[in-house]
Amino acid sequence: MSQTREEQDGPVKIFIVDDEAIIAQSLALDLKQRGFEARAVRSGEACIELIGKGDVPDLILMDLNLGTGRFDGPAATRAIQEVCDVPVVLHTAYTDSETLQSTHEMLRYGYVHKVPGNVEFIVATIKMALKLHGTEKRLRERERMYRDLSSHLQSVREDQNAIIAREIHDDLGQSLTALKMNLNLVRRRTTETVAAGESSDLPAVFEDMESILNTTVRKVRSMIEVLRPPLLDTTGIVDALHVLVSSVERELRIPVRLHVPSDPLVLDGTRSLVLYRVVQEALTNCARHAEPRSIAVTVDVTDDAFVAVIEDDGRGFDPAAPRPEKRFGIVGMRERVEHVGGEMSVQSSPGKGTLVRVVIPREDAQ
Ligand SMILES: Nc1ncnc2c1ncn2[C@@H]1O[C@H](COP(=O)(O)OP(=O)(O)OP(=O)(O)O)[C@@H](O)[C@H]1O
Ligand SMILES: [Mg+2]
Repeated sequence: MSQTREEQDGPVKIFIVDDEAIIAQSLALDLKQRGFEARAVRSGEACIELIGKGDVPDLILMDLNLGTGRFDGPAATRAIQEVCDVPVVLHTAYTDSETLQSTHEMLRYGYVHKVPGNVEFIVATIKMALKLHGTEKRLRERERMYRDLSSHLQSVREDQNAIIAREIHDDLGQSLTALKMNLNLVRRRTTETVAAGESSDLPAVFEDMESILNTTVRKVRSMIEVLRPPLLDTTGIVDALHVLVSSVERELRIPVRLHVPSDPLVLDGTRSLVLYRVVQEALTNCARHAEPRSIAVTVDVTDDAFVAVIEDDGRGFDPAAPRPEKRFGIVGMRERVEHVGGEMSVQSSPGKGTLVRVVIPREDAQ
């Protein structure tokens, strides 16, 4: 985690960007007397040049008017903030509301009035701006950390799912198949014995056992499907989506249409899984919350992205309403999609159905 200004050693470095050299130099002197490392800079362009050379201050005091034909304060601030994250405080002689309104976008760290004898006020504002900037930075870092942690946990869970699915398939699945074959054999023999005239209730017992076995095999298959659809790793995402859609169709007894491009979809393992899980969660939400009459799932490919749309004509909801407690389906979908550089939107309103749209870039962002 990078240090904030409050945690670093050495004097705080301030650039005073002002085309009036005398004002800037005298303020620099005042600030130096108060322990800052202050430097007068004549223009926004000169400030950007210094930053470009690696001379980056901790804070900039920025004049509004910086001379004709040059960047003004807001333009210089925009250009600076494109290349580095330095708090900029407006230092201006203007006090009218129209001028101050026009500086709204650069006012994140406030402004100070450019009048003689205002140094203590400037120092207090600088300290507050540095504190605010440090807090913002820590919050951003923490947010990034939580996002990384969440996507790490998701990928650990997917890896574990894949391992468990393989174990169940290879071990339990094969044992059940062997058991079923043996059962068939024993039943045939018993049927022959009964046919030879000996009475027995064994055929009924075998039938019962076979029915239990069949149910267990179905359960095991559906467990594997939930953990990690095997088709994702074999014939691919389109077949896996067909199976998913059919199972929802069977469960809800409504039409669920799947539209996919006629050309094969070529997605890497990560993107296939993201696409699959997003469609899966959206369909689960349709089943749990929407009471729809029909659902349509469409997957498309553009020049640079895969686009999936899941649309139902059910009861809808207000996506802007506060998230219900401990509900993570939509949050999880968004996390997955954003982790691969994509975007997700949810359009819905009560009574109007729901449309979930995800865009997954084909290439990793550079
Ligand atoms: N297709 C939909 N139709 C109607 N309401 C929906 C739909 N999808 C989501 N919602 C509403 O949005 C809420 C949040 O959905 P989300 O998937 O985040 O949580 P959940 O499904 O309730 O729980 P889980 O965390 O198990 O997914 C739902 O509780 C539901 O009220
Ligand atoms: Mg859900």
